[in-house]
Amino acid sequence: MTPPKGTPNGPGTRKPGLHGRAVRVLSQVVEQGRSLNQCLPPQLIDLTPAERGRLQDWCFGTCRWWYRLNHELDSRLERPLRRSDMPVKYLLLLGLYQLRYSKTPPHAVLNECVEGCRDLGFKPLTGLVNGVLRKAQREGEPEPTDPAVIHSHPAWIADKLKGNWAEQWIAVMAANNQHPPFTLRVNLRQGSREGYLQELTDAGLEAESCQFAPAGIRLRKAVPVEQLPGFADGAVSVQDEAAQLCVGLLELAPGQRVLDACAAPGGKTAAILEAEPALERLTAVDSDADRLERVRENLHRLVLDAEVVCADAAAAAEWADPEGYDRILLDAPCSATGVIRRHPDIKLLRRETDIAPLATLQLSLLKALWPFLKPGGRLVYATCSVFPQENSRIVSRFLNATADAQLVPLAVDWGLDTGYGRQLLPQAEGADGFFYACLNKAPGQLIADH
Ligand SMILES: C[S@@+](CC[C@H](N)C(=O)[O-])C[C@H]1O[C@@H](n2cnc3c(N)ncnc32)[C@H](O)[C@@H]1O
Repeated sequence: MTPPKGTPNGPGTRKPGLHGRAVRVLSQVVEQGRSLNQCLPPQLIDLTPAERGRLQDWCFGTCRWWYRLNHELDSRLERPLRRSDMPVKYLLLLGLYQLRYSKTPPHAVLNECVEGCRDLGFKPLTGLVNGVLRKAQREGEPEPTDPAVIHSHPAWIADKLKGNWAEQWIAVMAANNQHPPFTLRVNLRQGSREGYLQELTDAGLEAESCQFAPAGIRLRKAVPVEQLPGFADGAVSVQDEAAQLCVGLLELAPGQRVLDACAAPGGKTAAILEAEPALERLTAVDSDADRLERVRENLHRLVLDAEVVCADAAAAAEWADPEGYDRILLDAPCSATGVIRRHPDIKLLRRETDIAPLATLQLSLLKALWPFLKPGGRLVYATCSVFPQENSRIVSRFLNATADAQLVPLAVDWGLDTGYGRQLLPQAEGADGFFYACLNKAPGQLIADH
């Protein structure tokens, strides 16, 4: 496909500069609904490590501060830019991001953005770019008053957070703009957490134990995984503390059959196998064949074994083991609003209208899997959402409709008790936003009863 005018790599243009690449990435996020994880990597391939770092920071940072930057840009433009001039809008937002949140000297920001404008094929708008950014630099940022703008969230997310978490919504939005911690899970089959902390110290990497997850370690600074001692041999995996907490809730024991019903990319699959080496079997299911490849890769690196199945969890009757499972983990597809700090593009990609269909899907997955939980067994329902609509309300609706399901109160010292499961809200230096509920099946029910 020939890129449209104004995008890098268009006919007759030379190898795109960093600004052109950033504009291309931002336009794909905004106009095509693609995630940064999808559209950034192809732009990084032929760059030096320093250039990669800059481009990544620009794209993540501009998405993170999008709503605040956009608010300022709107106030500085006499009239909105035309549809065909959208690349210039993205360039201006990038320039404002650099002025407000980077250490790049303002004169360099201005010069590079003007040059970027020309490179993108918008020579007539170089004066506008120069004028807007020069004024922005001279005048400083106008102080916003709306909390959604201050913390750079779309109004619907801010409103929903306020309605759901009246006391915490501002702190949640602030935490969503923090750079996430770099957290590891030590493979306790290979060694102890203390031993690995020592290896990190020996390698000159500062780190500390996580507060709640027994295999968790938080590094002071993110590093490429290749620099982590023993990474290639499966000594550690990258996984947030919140995601690690699921293993304890499953109360794993030797001889159990476990189903990981939405498993890809396999973070929790591996954590389960590391925590309990003597399971009878772990079946890892996901409906996305490409993402399942990541499960296989992870298991291979960690020298772990599971039955990996590509299937629709909502159609469990077609593939699930009729003898049932002692433990089921349903780490359900969700709005991912608990991990915005890791994926700031979620603010741009998610729509308010996504939430109700997600809730319908979540409840249908629960209902489809429940018949395959053995009597006396446990199902853990998890999401990385902070909206009760996808969490406690799903659990409450499910309990109302399911006679043999019992909610297990969680005796843990993390998160907030919602009455129907425990909610972790994202915290600076702490865990991601996550929700967990444990549901036990009354003993003595036969699978055939359903
Ligand atoms: C939150 S992610 C799971 C993360 C994973 N448990 C981990 O810890 O690495 C949700 C997963 O659900 C999968 N999924 C969505 N709908 C599904 C369905 N109907 N059946 C099975 N998997 C589904 C998605 O492909 C996605 O990989």
